[in-house]
Amino acid sequence: MEIVTARLRLRSARPDDLVALHAVLSDPRATRWWSTPPHASLAETAAWLDSMIANGPEQPDFVVERDGLVIGKAGFWRLPEIGYILHPDHWGEGLATEAVSAAIDHVFATREADRLTADVDPDNRPSIRLLERLGFVRTGSAERTFCIDGEWKDSLYYGLTRDRWRPEWPSA
Ligand SMILES: CC(C)(COP(=O)(O)OP(=O)(O)OC[C@H]1O[C@@H](n2cnc3c(N)ncnc32)[C@H](O)[C@@H]1OP(=O)(O)O)[C@@H](O)C(=O)NCCC(=O)NCCS
Repeated sequence: MEIVTARLRLRSARPDDLVALHAVLSDPRATRWWSTPPHASLAETAAWLDSMIANGPEQPDFVVERDGLVIGKAGFWRLPEIGYILHPDHWGEGLATEAVSAAIDHVFATREADRLTADVDPDNRPSIRLLERLGFVRTGSAERTFCIDGEWKDSLYYGLTRDRWRPEWPSA
């Protein structure tokens, strides 16, 4: 399974993505508001990647490539919840918008899901901006949803209904 956008290629994960994905998931800037602390070992990322691969085509979850290099992931580890992470070297260029839009287009085109969801840390402004840019609306919140390295984090919940989806991306 592969999706090509203006600047990116989204494809199924492979075992040889390990080192590139570890570079993303071990970076404390990238995991600052993630659901786990930075990966401390390649083995930790290998387990994460194994579960992404084991999910198979049932879950439309994609590794994101730019110019042939893996820079992150975007998609649905468990439909209907969206998840995305890019290496910080690739932030601020609209690439997450482009990747996440492509994953959403794919899901609405191929699945019956009428509503997608997101769970985001209230302090994660870049992610909230991305969700709102794509038409997600806030549906609720909860306190103390994740305990990361002994510190409790809260969640904001967002939803995107099929009828609100206006694919303006990728436009680059
Ligand atoms: C969340 C995350 C993917 C957002 O990345 P991002 O690069 O800010 O998002 P986008 O790709 O949509 O880029 C938007 C930014 O690029 C700028 N930009 C530049 N060119 C652009 C273009 N062609 N199109 C759109 N935006 C563009 C926008 O102005 C915006 O900048 P701003 O945030 O300063 O306003 C990134 O911060 C990340 O990987 N975080 C770590 C993981 C994480 O927290 N995931 C979410 C868990 S809920």
